[in-house]
Amino acid sequence: MALAEAGAKIRRILGVEVRRYSSAAMKAIHPWGGLVVSALCAALFVACGDGDGPEEQPPPVFSSGSTCPPDSTLTWESFGQGFMETYCMSCHSSSLSGSARKGAPVEHDYDTLEASREAGAEHIDRTTAAGPARVNRRMPPVYPEPSEDERRMLGEWLACGMP
Ligand code: HEC
Repeated sequence: MALAEAGAKIRRILGVEVRRYSSAAMKAIHPWGGLVVSALCAALFVACGDGDGPEEQPPPVFSSGSTCPPDSTLTWESFGQGFMETYCMSCHSSSLSGSARKGAPVEHDYDTLEASREAGAEHIDRTTAAGPARVNRRMPPVYPEPSEDERRMLGEWLACGMP
């Protein structure tokens, strides 16, 4: 009885401490986060924030150098999902764990659009996409391998923001 009460008290205190700590951390990080973003935008001559329209938005420049053509038709449904299923999901899937992932890092799953976006377009481009700057072939490490055209389509889809 006394033990349970003590336990509850400790949990209460710890809970308060954790909340205090994280709100202090947020305050410390937040203004700097904003500064870092503006510094990056300035360094890259990129217009962040409100653009005047789609034409004014600079394309993201990843390792492959791919850009997003205004008439791009590639979406998760028409392209991304099929690409990931065919070439990536035998290792990078949230349904796989332990040795079934064959060494693929846990934070990189491509079985949904949300998970793919979270894992990061930049990483996917750097390992797999082709564009005017480079043809990246680190992934997949096994057959079947995408054709260079498919790698180009991947670069385009990523540069378009993974619609
Ligand atoms: C046979 C299993 C396998 C397949 C298929 C596979 N990967 Fe991987 N992937 C790995 C392993 C193992 C690693 C960790 C070693 C490495 O980074 O080279 C990895 C790492 C990665 C990383 C993280 C690299 C980094 O920057 O740290 C990305 C991104 C990635 N894979 C993307 C893909 C994409 C996209 C595909 C599909 C085209 C794919 N992988 C297919 C096994 C696989």
